Amino acid sequence: MSFFPGETVTENAAARVVRGVGELRAALVPARRAGQTIGLVPTMGFLHDGHASLLRAARAECDVVVMSLFVNPTQFGPNEDLDRYPRDEERDLRVASEAGVDLVFAPTVEEMYPDRAATTVEVSGNLTSVLDGDPSRRGAAHFRGVTTIVAKLFNIVGPDVGYFGQKDAQQAAVIKRMARDLSFPLRVEVMPTVREEDGLAMSSRNVYLEPADRLRAVAISRALAAAEQQALALDSLDAGLAAARIELAAAAIEPEYLEARDAETLEPAEHLRAGRPVLIAVAAQVGGARLIDNVLVEPIAD
Ligand code: PAJ
Repeated sequence: MSFFPGETVTENAAARVVRGVGELRAALVPARRAGQTIGLVPTMGFLHDGHASLLRAARAECDVVVMSLFVNPTQFGPNEDLDRYPRDEERDLRVASEAGVDLVFAPTVEEMYPDRAATTVEVSGNLTSVLDGDPSRRGAAHFRGVTTIVAKLFNIVGPDVGYFGQKDAQQAAVIKRMARDLSFPLRVEVMPTVREEDGLAMSSRNVYLEPADRLRAVAISRALAAAEQQALALDSLDAGLAAARIELAAAAIEPEYLEARDAETLEPAEHLRAGRPVLIAVAAQVGGARLIDNVLVEPIAD
C-alpha cells in the first residue's frame, strides 16, 4: 500500500524507516495534504502477533500506517529490564513490512529526549496509582514515562487513530484519559489480547521464561478464564477471584495483585452490572518474567 497520492499501489512494499522527528513530519506532509487518514501503532519492538494485530487493524482502517519502534527508557524503573529488553530491529522491520506498515519511526533516545527533556505528561489520581501504578509495584512513574512518550508520538505523527492493546489494560485506560484530558484530536482504539495456543498472552517479555516456567505461566490465563466463568455463573466477583486464586496456587504462582476493578475508572468493583465492564487484572512474577494479563467481564443484559 502506498500513501503518496498518485503513486502506484504495491502490496506490502518494504516499510520506510525514519529516524528523525523532522524527517517523519516531512514524510507525512503529502498524505496530510491529500486528506488521508493516518494510523499510529506505538511499540517497543520485538514484535509478535499481538503487535501485528494492531498493525493489521491500522492497515484495514487507515490510508497511512505509522509504527513507532522505540524502547522508551523513561517508563522503566531503575531495577527493571531496560538493559536486557529484547531487541531485533531487522526482524521487526520485516514483520512491519509484511503487515503493510508504510513508515517505521525508529528514533534514538537522544532524538526523543534532547537534553534529557524537562517536561513530562502525567495522568494523576486513581488510574495511575492502583494495580501496576501502586508505589510498591511499577509506580506512577512508569505511567508518566508511557504518557510522556505517547503524547510526544501523538504530537510528532498527528494520527487520526492510535492503536493499543487490551493486554495492557491499565496503560490503555491511562492513554484514553490523557487523550481526552489534553484534547488530542484522535481516536484511541483498543484491540483484544492475542494469545498463544495454550492461552498465554503474547508478550515480548515471554522470552525471559525458561521452559518449565513457560508451562507454569499458562495458569495465569487459565485463572482469568476461571474467574470470568465463575463470576458470571455465580454473579459474584468474589467467587471469580477465588476461582482464579485456586488456579494460580495450583501452579505455585503468587500474584502481585489479582483484582476486580471498573474497566474505565479502575475504581474497585464489587458487583457485576450490565453496561459496566469489570476488569479482572493480574500480575505475577513467573521465573525471570513479570507477567500481566486481564479479562473483561460483563454480564449479558437481559
Ligand atoms: P509494547 O509492549 O511493545 O506494546 C505495544 C502495543 O502492543 C501496546 O499497545 C500493547 O498493549 C500491545 N500488545 C502487547 N501485547 C499484546 C497482545 N498479546 N495482544 C494485543 N496487543 C498487545 O506497550 C508498549 O510497548 C509501550 O508502553 C508503548 C505504548 C509503546 C509506549 O512506550
